Amino acid sequence: MRKRYLGLLLLTLLLLCACSRPDSGETRLIRVGFSQLGSESDWRLANTCSMTAALSEENGFELLFDNAKQRQENQLLAIRNFIQEEVDYIVLAPIMESGWEDVLQEAKGAGIPVIIVDRQISVEDADLYSCWVGSDFREEGELAISWLEAFLQHNSRAGEPLRILHIQGTEGATAQIGRTAALEHAVRRHPEWEIIGVLPGEYTEAKSYELVRDFLKAERDIDVIYSENDNMSFGAMHALDEAGLSYGSDGHVTIISFDAVHDALQLCLEGRINACVECNPLHGPRVSALIRQMEDGQTPEKQNYVEETLFQTDTLTEELLREREY
Ligand code: AHR
Repeated sequence: MRKRYLGLLLLTLLLLCACSRPDSGETRLIRVGFSQLGSESDWRLANTCSMTAALSEENGFELLFDNAKQRQENQLLAIRNFIQEEVDYIVLAPIMESGWEDVLQEAKGAGIPVIIVDRQISVEDADLYSCWVGSDFREEGELAISWLEAFLQHNSRAGEPLRILHIQGTEGATAQIGRTAALEHAVRRHPEWEIIGVLPGEYTEAKSYELVRDFLKAERDIDVIYSENDNMSFGAMHALDEAGLSYGSDGHVTIISFDAVHDALQLCLEGRINACVECNPLHGPRVSALIRQMEDGQTPEKQNYVEETLFQTDTLTEELLREREY
């Protein structure tokens, strides 16, 4: 009797397992640990949304998300936690380029592939990560400079002295390095251009507002604000408003901004920001495609650049703005 019951029980268990087991592993969720550097800007929020939407359970992923709140040490902790959790992939949006060697060595030791997104990392051993996807930040800076040169030419101001206030993003981040390099290179080409101040705005509106407000107490003669993201432009515009200085297409200060998030493009359309260089945050589907490639046993391209453009008041339209996803 006992044997019969035992046999029946085993059979039932086997049937239950067969029913609940995913078809040959096809529905197994891919476990991904994503270390996001923070939430400093509208761009970053759009990026987080894109990543969490793409790496969702409906799309076959189990996402472990960590917001490092602008601190590299939090990112290091998060990555170590993902290693402990034995995730299938680690995705890292690094706050800066340096300081990743040791922790990525640990991930490599654990056999977990690492995908870098947005900014880049600087490591001697390129095998410490599988691939990177993001923007060509130097190219973004070059787009901004070409626009400025054409704008000055068009307004018969080429060759005239130009006083530039430079609001910089987080020091050591690829976005800062690339956009800054383009400006500094242009200033070397144009002896009549002068950078009259470099303010460390850390990509936030609040910091930029405070710095520009204080700067304007001593210096009001500014021709151009080169702001390394939209939120810092918003902060600068707030400070300019308070100081009673005009800006934009009908004003004195020319504003060049980076990211082209919705609110900035609206301001550009209204002529309050002269030019916005696009920095595309929609990396979620790109990262998920890279993971799928690796799941299929393929080796993705190491460097994956996203194509971007520049928007300016004269050519921007309501329709274009409506089509934008962020
Ligand atoms: O790395 C991309 C930059 O980071 C964006 O320009 C900025 O808004 C963000 O914080």
